[in-house]
Amino acid sequence: MVLLLACTLPADVDPAVPDSSGESASSAVRDFSVGAFHHCWLDGEGSLSCETVGPYAMIGEERARPDEAFVDVEVAFRHGCARTSAGVATCWGDSAFRGTFDTLEVGATSSCGLLGTRLECEAVGWQDDHVPALAEGVDQVSSGLRNTCVLDADGMALCWGGVDLGQGSPGTGPFSAISVGHYTTCTLADEVVDCVGDDLYGLVSEAPEELISISVGVVSACGRTAQSEISCWGSDIYGVISGVPSGTFARVEVGAGHACALSYEDELVCWGGSLDEQWDHSGAPLSHERDIQPIWDMHCLACHPGTGGSDPRLNLARGSAYGVLMGETWHPGLVNTSSVSDSRVLVRLKSQSAPMPPTHTLPSTQIDLVARWIEEGAAP
Ligand code: HEC
Repeated sequence: MVLLLACTLPADVDPAVPDSSGESASSAVRDFSVGAFHHCWLDGEGSLSCETVGPYAMIGEERARPDEAFVDVEVAFRHGCARTSAGVATCWGDSAFRGTFDTLEVGATSSCGLLGTRLECEAVGWQDDHVPALAEGVDQVSSGLRNTCVLDADGMALCWGGVDLGQGSPGTGPFSAISVGHYTTCTLADEVVDCVGDDLYGLVSEAPEELISISVGVVSACGRTAQSEISCWGSDIYGVISGVPSGTFARVEVGAGHACALSYEDELVCWGGSLDEQWDHSGAPLSHERDIQPIWDMHCLACHPGTGGSDPRLNLARGSAYGVLMGETWHPGLVNTSSVSDSRVLVRLKSQSAPMPPTHTLPSTQIDLVARWIEEGAAP
C-alpha cells in the first residue's frame, strides 16, 4: 500500500531541509497517531515508523524509538508510547511511563494507560496537576496540552488540570466521545457536537453540528460525518481545512499543523503541515493575541506550557505569555521595544548555537512577524 502525503514545503524554507512530500511505500497501516509536526504508524507486522511534515524536525527523535512489534501507538509533542500484543507499553522521548494496559493515551504533557476501567497516568514535564495519578471506572480518556478528561461507562465526564479557558469544563455528559485539544475540548452526545473553551481559531463557533468521531488539535479539528467523510474546521493557516481528502475513512487525527486519516483499505493519508504564506498580517498594528500567540501555541507550548499565573518560569500559554514576555511576571529583556534585536526572545529564535525551539527553526516569515510586532511597540 502507499502512504500518500499531500504536504508541501513553505516557500521560504531552505530546500536542503529534508521534507516528506511525495509518496512512500509501506505495507497496510495497522495503527497511527499524529504528534506535533510528525506522525507515527505501525505496519502490518507491527513495526513502527515516524515521519515529519514540512520543515519541522521531530522533537525527541534523538532518543531511540523501540524496535519491537506493536499493536498500537500514540505520540504527542516530545514523546510517544506503543503497546505490544501482550499489552506492555514502552515509551520513548520524554516519558519513561511503563505498564501493562488495554489502551494508551498520550497528551502533550502526559502519558496514560487504561487497564480494564483503571486509568494510570504520569505527567511529562514538571507539573502534574493535569493528570489523575489513578482513576477507577474509566471508559475513555483524552489528553490535550494540560488537561485530561475521562468518560465513565455511562459517558459522564470528569476533567483535570491546566490553564482553563473553559476547555476543562465540557459539562457532565452523558457523552459518547471526548477529544481534548490545546485550549478547546469537544464532545459527542449521540453524534451531536459540542465544543467548549477558546474560540480564537473558530474551533468552538465553527464546529459542525453532527459527527461520528472527533479529534481536536491546536488550531484545527477534524471529525468524520455519518457518511464517514472527513470534515475539518478552525484555522486553515497550515492547510488542514482546505486539504481535506475526499473519500471515506475509518479514523482521523489532528496534530499541531497537519492531520492524518486511515482509509478502509488501511491506507494512511496525511495533509496540511505547510504554513500558508498568504496568512497575512497587513492589518497593522500587530497584536500579541491575534498574530503572535498562535506562533507560541504551535511551536513553544510543548516545552513552555507553564502552570498558571504564579509560575515564575517561561509560561507561553495563552493568558500568561504576554505578561511574561513584557517582563511583568518574569525577568525583563525578553521583549525590548527600544532595541528590538536585543530582545531575548528574538535572539533565541534566530540563534544558531542555542535556537528556540531547539528542534527546528521557525519559518522566517514567523520570525519576521515577531520582530515586526516588537518594532511596532509590542501591543497586547
Ligand atoms: C523542545 C523543547 C522546547 C521548545 C519546543 C521550545 N523551548 Fe524554549 N527553552 C527550552 C528549554 C529547555 C530552555 C532552557 C534552556 C535554554 O535556555 O536553552 C528554554 C529557554 C528558552 C528561552 C530563554 C529564556 C531566558 O531567560 O533567556 C526563551 C526566550 C525561549 N526558550 C523561547 C522559546 C520560544 C519562543 C519557543 C517557541 C518558538 C520555544 N522556546 C520552544 C525548551 C524548549
